[in-house]
Order: sequence, then C-alpha cells, then structure tokens
Amino acid sequence: MAFKDLREYIARLEEEGEIQRIEKEVDWNLEIGAIIRRALDLSAPAPFFQKIVGSPPGYRLLASPNGTGVTPGRPYARVAVALGLPPNMPSSEMIKSYHGVMEKDPIKPVMVSEGPCQEEVYTGDDIDLLKFPTPVFHEGDGGRYIGTWLTCISKDPETGKVNWGMYRVMIHDKKHLLIYWHTPQQHMYGHYLKYKAMRKPMPFALAIGTEPITPWFSGGRIPLGVEEPDVIGGVLGEPIELVKCKTVDLEVPATTEIVIEGEVSIDETAIEGPFAEVLGYISPASRGENQLSRVTAITHRHDPILVCTNPGPPPSDSYTKTSIEVSANVLRYLKSQGLPVKMAYAPLETSIRMILVSSEVPFRNYAKHLAIILWGIWGGKDRAPYLAVFDEDIDVTNFGQAIWAMTTRCNPAKDIHIVKDLPGMALYPFLSREERQKQTGGACTLFDCTWPLDWPKEDIPVMASFEGVYPKEIREMVLKNWSDYGFKV
Ligand SMILES: Cc1cc2nc3c(=O)[nH]c(=O)nc-3n(C[C@H](O)[C@H](O)[C@H](O)COP(=O)(O)O)c2cc1C
Repeated sequence: MAFKDLREYIARLEEEGEIQRIEKEVDWNLEIGAIIRRALDLSAPAPFFQKIVGSPPGYRLLASPNGTGVTPGRPYARVAVALGLPPNMPSSEMIKSYHGVMEKDPIKPVMVSEGPCQEEVYTGDDIDLLKFPTPVFHEGDGGRYIGTWLTCISKDPETGKVNWGMYRVMIHDKKHLLIYWHTPQQHMYGHYLKYKAMRKPMPFALAIGTEPITPWFSGGRIPLGVEEPDVIGGVLGEPIELVKCKTVDLEVPATTEIVIEGEVSIDETAIEGPFAEVLGYISPASRGENQLSRVTAITHRHDPILVCTNPGPPPSDSYTKTSIEVSANVLRYLKSQGLPVKMAYAPLETSIRMILVSSEVPFRNYAKHLAIILWGIWGGKDRAPYLAVFDEDIDVTNFGQAIWAMTTRCNPAKDIHIVKDLPGMALYPFLSREERQKQTGGACTLFDCTWPLDWPKEDIPVMASFEGVYPKEIREMVLKNWSDYGFKV
C-alpha cells in the first residue's frame, strides 16, 4: 500500500478525480490563497498549481492534499487513498479500521547514500527561500508561510532521539525563517530549551512534500521518546529511507520534494504572525516575538513540489485525518472503560471541538457518567468542550441527523449540563485575550440526547423515517420498483 513519494500519491489521487491541475499562471500574493479557499468551500479537487509568478519554471504547489473528497458523502476519500483503503469506505468503517492500520509494530528507518531530495543543492549565497511559490494565504497574514503541511525535524542533544513535528513556518527573508511553537509542551521546543541551556543554536531540517502519511504523524501527538520515523515505517509496512543532510547532523526522508536545513538562534528574534489558526480565525493574539532561524542549505528534487494547506473555517483539510483519528481513539477508549458505546465521531463541521457518541443506555444519568470519563483523560476536555450523547439509533457520523436528534431530544431545560471554570486553552476564539494568555475560562458542556430511561417504552417517540415507520415488505417492494417509478437517483 505504501506510496514511495508524494508524486505517486498525486498520481493515485488524479485517478480518483481528486486533483485539479491549474496551468494558468497565478500570483502567490492572495490569489492562490483565495483559489484554495474557494476549492475547499466547493469540495473541489485539490488545486495543483503549475505556474506561479516569480518562481522558476517547473516549481509547483500542491494544496489540500487531505482536503475533503469531491464526491458527496465521501469527505475522507483522500485520507482513505493515503491509507490504501477504498476511497468510498463509509466514515464509520474507516473509524473502526483506523486502529488496525495504525497499531502495527514500528519499523526503524534505513539510511541510504543518496536520494532525490538532493538532486539540487544550494548553500551560501545561492540560498533563496523567496524562489519557492510560497503564498500569502490571507489578507492580514504576517508574511509568506512556506510551512503549513510539513515535517520539522530536530534531535534531542542529550538522548540523540529525533522528533518530527508539524509547526507553521514563516519566511523572514531570503535566508531566514521563523518556526512557531504554540505551547511549551511541543517536543521541538523542548529540544530548543536544551540547546539554549547549552548556549548553542539548534540544528533543524524541514521536509516539505513527503509521502502522504508522514505529515500526519508529524502533526499528531506521539509520546516523547517514541521516534516518528519508526511509527510511520510500521504503518507503511516498510522502513522509510533517509539521507543525511548536507549542513546539519540530521536525516530526512530521501524522496522529499524540498528540504530546508538550518539553525534556530538562541539570541536573535523577529516578529512572527499573525496567521490563521486551526479553529478558523486570524487573531492579533497569533502575532509575537519568535526565535529567528538561519538557513544553511536548501536541497530539492528537480521541478520541486511545495505542499500547503490553507487554514480557515470548515471545511478545512487540517482536520480530515484528525477527525478519523480522534473518533477512533475516543471509541476505543470508551469501550476499554466497559461502556456499551456503538460509535464516536468528531465532526469536521465543528473543527473537531465536538464529540458525538451513540450508545446503549444501561442506567440513569449514563450520559453524565460517560462525560466524566471522557473529559477526565488528557486532552479530553479540549477536544470535546461540546459532547453529545445519543441512543444507538442515531448515526453520529451523519452530522445532519445528529444535529436534528440533538434539537429534538435534548431538553434545553433539563439535559444540558455545563462545567465551568476549567483551565482554558490558548486557541479558543471565544475566550478573551486575557483568558487566552492566562489559559483560564475553560468550560465543557454535555448535551444528553438520550431518551429518559424512566419513560414508559410506549411514550418514546418513533423516528418517522423510511426504516422507522414502514414495514419491511413495503420497503423492499418500493426499493425493487424504484426505477420503475421513474426515479433516476
Ligand atoms: C496542520 C497543522 C498545523 C499545526 N501547526 C502548529 C503550529 O504552528 N505550532 C504548534 O505548536 N503546533 C502546531 N500543530 C500541532 C503540532 O503539530 C502537534 O501538537 C504535534 O503533536 C507536535 O508534535 P511534537 O510535539 O512531537 O513535535 C499543527 C498541527 C497540524 C495538523
């Protein structure tokens, strides 16, 4: 199933009609950003820009490699293709199968002496970040963001363990950039602090345009000390091939499109941001002083492909894979706690800030019991500040059906339960600037959308749907005769 590189993945997406090659010359200054945004809004194919103002011929830009699929009802088609699963697999099946795919034994990477990522090497005066087709995505952005879907590589100077993380990267000038860590827990920042204590700049490498799974694990939480390349190798079923960087003591995937090597300064800083954050807003809070990084080499394939995502409100491709991952993790965790849960789903429409759970309801106040278990785990309350619990008959992967059930089964006077005054989260747009800075003002809300257990069975309203109120023989007859009635759909 493994794709050798980004180019193989693009070819496969093209077969599925998920890529739009754009031959017309486009401008990196807002035009590209607007095209990507519009394509996301329309669930159009991923824009693949072939000619960009100011970039040498052959330099290309792929946007939204994991954007929502073009066919209605197949939002996760590109994620499925990346995993080697059928693109039309229903979301509920993908959620159930996700762990099988991910929980494979790790496979260590192997070193190779050369790789396509070093077909062209630029050092010294030849370094020029500005030649890449890097967009200014939104009006108000602090600069051109070359890193929006990438792998930032660093090494722990004490243990030698590598970390692959995803952090936004803004170009400062031809030879300098800024990498943004938004919380002190980020592992690359932890490495940086160790270098700072040693009074040494931190070497880094940015790998942009890898095979499709690598960015997922860079942007996902892998425990400290577990090395992402091993986990990715396990998922791919074969070791990743790495080559040594030219100017820093780090290794990068051999087939990467573009590699930027350099050092993060421990003394020099510059202004980074603002930039649109994952919840879909540009906020003045996302601008600040940041460590400056000096580029020591750029290497790339011939005719390199830069890859990007354009953060914004849903539908946003930052979340397609995360939606499946979070849903699968919640489902597995609740089941492991002995709860008779049928399905859990983190809808794309909510920027994954809401979790919908369907379940058998074994006892009174069960939804509250479930909420306490989920909010209690690490990150639980940040992922699910809105939690809705339904009876088993609701397909929670169908967002329209779930919202209908919420607004018809959850009594606003009795079934909404709010927990206030929790620690806040710096990214929440509904918090004041002060609350964001101090990380206060957090809250979680449970919508109990289950029918009360103490109601007599005959009092429970029946869903007046095709399956709900038509006898089996009538349904079968209608389905059999459907085209005879003249319907084309
Ligand atoms: C599209 C995307 C963009 C992200 N941008 C940032 C960012 O700019 N800064 C940040 O600190 N985390 C960002 N993250 C979250 C980190 O990648 C995530 O916390 C990851 O677990 C970090 O891994 P590490 O701690 O192993 O380095 C982003 C994640 C995604 C998926």
